[in-house]
Amino acid sequence: MSIPVFSTIAELADWRAGLAQAGSSLALVPTMGALHAGHLALVAEASRNASAVVVSIFVNPLQFVPGEDIARYPRDLAGDLAKLAETAADAVFAPVPEEIYPDGPGSTLVRVAGISDVLCGRARPGHFEGVATVVAKLFNLTRPDVAVFGQKDAQQLAVIRRLVKDLNFPVRIVGIPTVREASGLALSSRNRYLSPAEKARAAAIYRALTAARALAQGQPAMPVPPLVDLVQTVLSEQAIDPEYVAVVDPGDFTPLAMVRRDQPALLAVAARVGSARLIDNIALNP
Ligand code: PAJ
Repeated sequence: MSIPVFSTIAELADWRAGLAQAGSSLALVPTMGALHAGHLALVAEASRNASAVVVSIFVNPLQFVPGEDIARYPRDLAGDLAKLAETAADAVFAPVPEEIYPDGPGSTLVRVAGISDVLCGRARPGHFEGVATVVAKLFNLTRPDVAVFGQKDAQQLAVIRRLVKDLNFPVRIVGIPTVREASGLALSSRNRYLSPAEKARAAAIYRALTAARALAQGQPAMPVPPLVDLVQTVLSEQAIDPEYVAVVDPGDFTPLAMVRRDQPALLAVAARVGSARLIDNIALNP
């Protein structure tokens, strides 16, 4: 069965009004397309949380920072629709940029201060403003009861939880665990940029994270530097020089100096492999 695809806000609004009339709840899965099994896991989780699911596919120009080539971002709408036809998705919202930014991007920006300024936010200034702005717009356009995001982009998830809290969006945010290849490599649309040899090297990222988790486990408290050193050592075996390796509070992304059994801690890494910038993370304790 093929899924209805809306390219305009008006078509989406019509469909949304029908759902409201029927009293159906709605879950939103925001994506930039080039869908993989990680995205499809979000759709499955969405369908467990609402009676209807809409997937948005929009390569958001506002979240690409200077030096990043949006034209190079993978796009495959036909392939995406074929994959979604096999899922519980009920509709796709795939607008053109002019529909979302009719006057060009940038007059009103949503900025979640603090979380947006560290780690990926430091490396990509303006990126999380672009994400927060487009997600706020998608929330207003689709008015979902629930929205589902991946923990793979843990900093993005923290930005969105904060956005929803601070601006009182009536949306429940659900996060799902990272879907990985058998090698441990986190699925990402950007993996399409990797050669088979680079993919094999990139698997060291998750190996490094799990090695650090094993080192932290079983200890009531442990200082962060030896964990960071271990990650760096495992990565260096594959000649990977990380952009950052950090242990942070997963709620607000402030840096932690100690990992304690009773305090949530997230180990996060960003690294370039070939031409792809990859990110991954792991919880060091429950
Ligand atoms: P995109 O990179 O397409 O990711 C869409 C959603 O899929 C995000 O919530 C992301 O965390 C999740 N995801 C990606 N890889 C995953 C994996 N391996 N396992 C589980 N979930 C995974 O993130 C964006 O798009 C954009 O920033 C967006 C939120 C759509 C705003 O433009």
